[in-house]
Amino acid sequence: MRTQVVIIGGGPSGLLLSQLLLKSGIDSVVLERKTKEYVLSRIRAGVLERGMVNLMKEVGLGDRLEAEGFVHDGTLIAANNESFRIDFAKQIGTSVVVYGQTEVTRDLYEAREKDGGAIVFNVEDVVINNAKTDAPYVTYKVDGVETRIDCDYVAGCDGFHGVSRQTIPQDVRREYEKVYPFGWLGVLSETPPVDDELIYANSPRGFALCSMRNANLSRYYVQCPRTDKPEDWSDDAFWDELKRRIPDEAADKLITGPTIEKSIAPLRSFVCEPMQYGRLFLCGDAAHIVPPTGAKGLNTAASDIHYLYHALRDHYLEKDDAGIEGYSAKALLRVWKAERFSWWMTTLLHRFPDQTEFDLKMQQAEIAFLRDNDAAQKVMAENYVGLPY
Ligand code: APR
Ligand code: PHB
Repeated sequence: MRTQVVIIGGGPSGLLLSQLLLKSGIDSVVLERKTKEYVLSRIRAGVLERGMVNLMKEVGLGDRLEAEGFVHDGTLIAANNESFRIDFAKQIGTSVVVYGQTEVTRDLYEAREKDGGAIVFNVEDVVINNAKTDAPYVTYKVDGVETRIDCDYVAGCDGFHGVSRQTIPQDVRREYEKVYPFGWLGVLSETPPVDDELIYANSPRGFALCSMRNANLSRYYVQCPRTDKPEDWSDDAFWDELKRRIPDEAADKLITGPTIEKSIAPLRSFVCEPMQYGRLFLCGDAAHIVPPTGAKGLNTAASDIHYLYHALRDHYLEKDDAGIEGYSAKALLRVWKAERFSWWMTTLLHRFPDQTEFDLKMQQAEIAFLRDNDAAQKVMAENYVGLPY
């Protein structure tokens, strides 16, 4: 078999790239280790930057997003039993859209199926061969039967645990990592969100976040020890803890109910350099991870896909390889800025086990500065709505 681009991984990165390429008449095959149902059962963040929204529009998937997504012109930061608002519209003249990543992935799958784009599920033993030559190929097995696909390029969109990053030899690859000493316990509940906007709360008991999926589906999080298990937390214990971490005004109007999902995610910052090895390109979680504070995961994957898509388009349609050659440097420049913002927001809002009294004073002073200083709010708004591609 032969195609122009083999895409490893059918998460949002791989699917978005495959659909952008299809619109430009560039052939690709997506190889996914799991089933579609499995991929769609994963619950991830739900805030889309303008750039991601535009990419969805570019592949013809703007309609549902526009009809069902919620435009947010600002967000609330809470500390010391009060909250203040960062006004994106005023500061930066743009907004974000609250629309679950699961819905993004569902829309992309539907489009892929409708367009008859190639996608192979349940693949095992994916191996990327000859990435450093002009003739790369990928082998994989389904039900024990091996297939070989020859191609021009390979896009490694296979997430943090995929094979693509490992294909870059260790003496070429450099990895940067910070593991945070806590996780987020997240719940989904069929209750109306406590506020029209998100509330990011710093409290002496740890961080909390009030988010949403739609008018009757809320997503809430509390910082918890990395070692906790979801079964350690009853619904009552979760609601009690959340109420103690957000301002009384919000706690008093919080509507609680049975949770329909409960999970714990550890927090990590991670970047692999370079994001390219010969004809292999890494995109999204395969190359970098951010802690979820600020919801930059999917949005940073989207900027990688934007750069790679344009690089491949320029190669095939314009015979211009500048984008291909410069992919890693260009993508990493924006990746590191998103890493910095996610790390900053995480550091600002969480309780760290080794925090001294001095550290706590610094955190409080920084929150007060953000509350009182227009320039600081502008910097936060600019990063939150997404830096330009
Ligand atoms: N072969 C084929 N597919 C694989 C392999 C492999 N060896 N390893 C992993 N995969 C698949 C996974 O099953 C998953 O569906 O690659 C996909 C990677 O998807 P994600 O982990 O969602 O990563 P990505 O598409 O880059 O999405 C980035 O999603 O994970 C969030 O926080 C992240 O929001 C960010 C966004
Ligand atoms: C979410 O809705 O799941 C969400 C929102 C904002 C974040 C992280 C997660 O910063």
